[in-house]
Amino acid sequence: MTTVPTDLQTQLQTLQATGVDAIATAPTLEALEALRVSYLGKKGELSKVLGGMGKLSAEERPHIGALANTVKDALQGGLEARKAALESEKIQAQLAAETLDVTMPGVYTPQGRIHPINSIIDQVVDIFVGLGYTVATGPEIETDYYNFEALNFLPDHPARDMQDTLYLPNGDLMRTHTSNVQIRYMQEHEPPLRVVATGRCYRRDTVDATHAAVFHQLEFFAIDKGITFADLKGTVKAFIQALYGDVAIRMRPSFFPFTEPSAEVDVQWQGRWLEVLGCGMIDPNVLKAVGYDPEVYSGFAGGIGIERFAMVQYQIDDIRRLYSSDLKFLRQF
Ligand code: DAH
Repeated sequence: MTTVPTDLQTQLQTLQATGVDAIATAPTLEALEALRVSYLGKKGELSKVLGGMGKLSAEERPHIGALANTVKDALQGGLEARKAALESEKIQAQLAAETLDVTMPGVYTPQGRIHPINSIIDQVVDIFVGLGYTVATGPEIETDYYNFEALNFLPDHPARDMQDTLYLPNGDLMRTHTSNVQIRYMQEHEPPLRVVATGRCYRRDTVDATHAAVFHQLEFFAIDKGITFADLKGTVKAFIQALYGDVAIRMRPSFFPFTEPSAEVDVQWQGRWLEVLGCGMIDPNVLKAVGYDPEVYSGFAGGIGIERFAMVQYQIDDIRRLYSSDLKFLRQF
């Protein structure tokens, strides 16, 4: 008779000793949860031992019952203590791992700037795109045909002498303006069209404060039925004012082989008239060269010197600074 309670008592005491020990050394919260289930769960160790209580006598039962409660309390107490310890360890580890030393010096990453030339190109192209223009490009190495002939420069035309051109050994040349894009684009497309094109141009100029052998132009042109000089004027005005606000503009008669009539545009800038672009109505001979019927279609075109705009806008006194790769200079912009 007495073997049963003694047996149960020993089992309970062993259970408490091993359980408390295992719980106190559980390495993780997951392991701890597994121990809880295996000791205190419905099918756990404690339940198994208590299953034997049915065989006890009425006198023995309270004693063993009380012991069982003590074991349960000990295990539960151990579980709670270990859980609190593991959770705090976890938080401490996390805090240590995520520590941010705000006094640590930063890592220097050099920051790039947009070059004044590119900045002007971006601004001007944006304005024309806003007016519904399409962006196009053309080659810098060009044939005589696209740079001169199709643009109505006759072989003995005096305007050819005005262009000091860099020729390649095979007779091709470095384009002297972006007007070559007009011909190339018109050959590939039918009107109506509105196009803006920028890029490098080359001339055999002696380099000084206002001349460079390599420079940038922006070309714009529009062709449709019924386009007049008034459209050109309105476009130039809209473009200049988008860039410089409500400044005074004047147009002077001029000459270009590829436009008739032609004009030069001046802008009033800090008390002076500054020449900023050439433009005109596209010459019927240019339209004919690409197979457009000048009786049906008309158009205007214009060319802008990007360096000129950059020098004015950023108050740069010498064009050579724009190509000097002098970071001290370029970082200002
Ligand atoms: N190609 C001219 C130049 O290099 C600029 C120019 C003037 C372009 C009038 C045009 C234009 O399209 O209509 O000076």
